[in-house]
Amino acid sequence: MANISPVHLLKWIEEHKTLFSGPVANKEVFPESEFIYQIVRGPNARNDFHIDPGDEIFYQLKGDITVRCIDADGTPRDITVREGEAMLCRAGTPHCPIRPADTWGLVIERKRRPDERDGLAWFCDACGAKLHETTFSVTNIEVELLDVIKKFNASPTLRACKQCGAVLPVPAGAASA
Ligand SMILES: [Fe+2]
Repeated sequence: MANISPVHLLKWIEEHKTLFSGPVANKEVFPESEFIYQIVRGPNARNDFHIDPGDEIFYQLKGDITVRCIDADGTPRDITVREGEAMLCRAGTPHCPIRPADTWGLVIERKRRPDERDGLAWFCDACGAKLHETTFSVTNIEVELLDVIKKFNASPTLRACKQCGAVLPVPAGAASA
């Protein structure tokens, strides 16, 4: 019979702390579930926006984070998710969570269907224009996502804004080629 013992999330974090490292630090609590139910630790070093084909729910267990979202009309919006708060990010909304050090959050996503691809986009810091957009498969997330990010960071051409000429810097501590 499957293990149906409840999990105390803060104790789970304490016991699994050493597993969180690198520029993208998340671990699933229930890998066997049809949901992706993952704990995410700050700090993170990303400036890419994720476009999930499904909804995502953010819940902050420890510390406050900012989730930068791009509205349907292209306007960026910084949303603070404080400790104890939950936020629903609707499917298809480009979002970039900015997680300070020693913050811990829960992110719930839907497992993707085999035919689904996730989007990744970057926007200009200076004028908000879209710099680059691509897709990746979550089935092969550890390899494909890192590849896509490394390729973008390694290319000054991709990082340069066609509209205003500003070049998006590579975040400190980010994955590079
Ligand atoms: Fe720009």
